[in-house]
Amino acid sequence: MTVSFKTFGCRLNRAETARFEAEFAAAGVTRVAFGAPAEIVILHTCAITQSAEHECLKLARALKKKNPRALLVFVGCAVEAAPPEALRVLPVDLIIPRDKKDGLVALVLSRVGIAPAATPVVPARSTQRASLKIQDGCDFFCTYCIVPHTRGEPRSRPFAECLHEAEAFIAAGFQEIVVTGCNIACYRDGGKRLVDLLAALAGLSGLGRLRLGSVEPGTVEREIVALMAATPRLCRFLHLPIQSGDNGVLARMGRRYTVEDIAHTLGDTLRRMPNLGLGADIITGFPGETAEAFAQTRALIDAFPFSNVHVFPYSERPGTPASTYDRSVPDAERKRRAVDLIQLKQVKRARFAQAFLGRPVEVLVERFDASNVAHGWTGEYLDCQIADVPRTAKARLVTCVPHAVKKESLVARLTEARTQTGRG
Ligand code: 5AD
Ligand code: SF4
Repeated sequence: MTVSFKTFGCRLNRAETARFEAEFAAAGVTRVAFGAPAEIVILHTCAITQSAEHECLKLARALKKKNPRALLVFVGCAVEAAPPEALRVLPVDLIIPRDKKDGLVALVLSRVGIAPAATPVVPARSTQRASLKIQDGCDFFCTYCIVPHTRGEPRSRPFAECLHEAEAFIAAGFQEIVVTGCNIACYRDGGKRLVDLLAALAGLSGLGRLRLGSVEPGTVEREIVALMAATPRLCRFLHLPIQSGDNGVLARMGRRYTVEDIAHTLGDTLRRMPNLGLGADIITGFPGETAEAFAQTRALIDAFPFSNVHVFPYSERPGTPASTYDRSVPDAERKRRAVDLIQLKQVKRARFAQAFLGRPVEVLVERFDASNVAHGWTGEYLDCQIADVPRTAKARLVTCVPHAVKKESLVARLTEARTQTGRG
């Protein structure tokens, strides 16, 4: 029996898909590439914007037409967000709502007459890094966001369970663990909070490095920065979904910080860690975003060494307060502003990369291209190409020295290939 997956959207969806894959594999169901003939097809959907939701619905229809005999399973945020009348006529075999998601594999297996195996904790090694899901859900209710409606209230996984799963990842040979969730700043288990969990994870023996997903500004980012400065295993990359650089827009978005808070935090942080990798999410064309307000956002991105900016043209999500706001920005202008920021990001990313020339960086080797050049990411989330890396270094951390920047990527030479099982 074979299964294929198509996963849209965030890292949390990808982490959940990896878990489904592991559970299927334990029951003897083999993953095949999406597009290859498969008896089970899982469509893991996203609804963060209207176009993401539409794409998922459209693909479901196309898949059923192309392969009517496959068991087609529709799961993820589009199940909660799409209009019920659209879901009713969707040509899929199973729609899995949020509260049944953890039992998806058992449900599918029962439909095809296969007994489920005891739940394994370790994902299949189809990726070079393991995502550790520590929580789900969000109750911040930013005025534009569908996620609290699709994923529900914050729920944290028990502290000990997270550590146990991380240990299993390490034992299976993963050198990098990515801490993932819907709003990880909400993590709580008794008195334990996110920073306690990160400190415990970073202390696990045999771990190569630990990476963090995005952290909501105005929550625990200062504690995290302090831990990062003191913990070499915690990648020096901070992704802040700041959304806008204009206080009026931030207030109407229902965000919990001001531009001054961001500037203050980043100023302090960069004094401590000048080469910290910085990421941001930005929404362009939120209702009432004037040309001046957008210029403030652009100025904020320009003022700090942001090297990784995800830009989203604003999308009205039904049921959210902002979808009823007036002073709507025309679609074309939302996109124009997005393109403008993406261009700015490209320049800033190349400039950020220059700072690493001639200095050793650590790269997790993810793949080799046709010319045998290794590709991977530094801790600061810079893409790096390295020549003369032995094939055995795949999925391992190597140290190399960049000597050039090509587009936005580092070009480096190997200094030392560590078949690393830990850093003491
Ligand atoms: N329109 C556009 N972008 C959105 N995001 C969330 N909701 C919307 C929306 N309605 C973006 C935010 C968030 C990222 C995951 O998706 O930037 O940080
Ligand atoms: Fe959405 Fe805001 Fe929660 Fe992020 S913090 S998931 S933007 S509601």
